[in-house]
Amino acid sequence: MTTDLLLQATDLKKSYGAVQALRGVDFSVARGETIALVGDNGAGKSTLVKILSGAIQPTSGSMRFDGKDIAISSTEVARRLGIETVYQDLGLCDNLTVAENIFLGREQIRRVGPFTFLKTAEMRRRAEEVLRDLSVNVPRVTASVAGLSGGQRQAVSLARARLWERSMVLLDEPTAALGVQETKRAMDGVRKIQAEGISVVLITHNMPMVMEMSDRVVVMRRGEKVGDVPTSMLNADAVVSLITGARERWIEPATTPFRSRRAEAGAVL
Ligand SMILES: Nc1ncnc2c1ncn2[C@@H]1O[C@H](COP(=O)(O)OP(=O)(O)OP(=O)(O)O)[C@@H](O)[C@H]1O
Ligand SMILES: [Mg+2]
Repeated sequence: MTTDLLLQATDLKKSYGAVQALRGVDFSVARGETIALVGDNGAGKSTLVKILSGAIQPTSGSMRFDGKDIAISSTEVARRLGIETVYQDLGLCDNLTVAENIFLGREQIRRVGPFTFLKTAEMRRRAEEVLRDLSVNVPRVTASVAGLSGGQRQAVSLARARLWERSMVLLDEPTAALGVQETKRAMDGVRKIQAEGISVVLITHNMPMVMEMSDRVVVMRRGEKVGDVPTSMLNADAVVSLITGARERWIEPATTPFRSRRAEAGAVL
């Protein structure tokens, strides 16, 4: 039987000395599903996403991915599973060009006898193609990423996620420092990733984005999951009351099989 669940984390705990950043969190993501992960500052959102991206290890808990028990012991393991993480400012190498960043760790090579050559022209062409596809203006793919704006850096990360057939993309506050236009572009980029059936975990404090982009909202408060509800059952006020604690808890049992709101609406994206 193939499972609808792409990722299933059970009873995740993470302590930093006396600080319990996660106090036994269950978290699952279905194939093609977009989760908005929300909560106040320090609630544990980034900690959860860092565990899923292999950047840090949980103190305890278990994970299944694609129906198999796994440990995401490094960012390399996460990448091999098809998990890509997009941060606002991290994750790109400033000393490399746009194209080099997109192909980092997956350089295309040609072998001629004992020699290997980088397919530089080919990589540039494909980098340009995928950026055009995301409708972003990046000066040149041969430019260093050091001089790019937040939105352009974001686009380079999204391009990488898009080009490499990811199964899941984690976005930690992707639009925190972006202007209105750049936020709109970043959201369009996320929509294209959604349209390809890639699962998305989106951390944001932007309530309209939560309501508009997600299939399900997961609310964290002080290291605990206090909300896990299909977005169609919620409004922004209900989400805020879970974030603040005005409403103690709302966990809906998972519905299977998961149907994306986009699929349901027959939306053309
Ligand atoms: N490396 C660390 N060392 C010690 N404590 C940490 C570390 N990283 C996070 N914490 C603590 O763990 C808790 C959860 O932090 P986390 O970064 O996951 O919150 P968050 O929900 O992402 O918040 P924000 O909305 O501010 O980004 C906080 O109390 C934080 O201070
Ligand atoms: Mg955070």
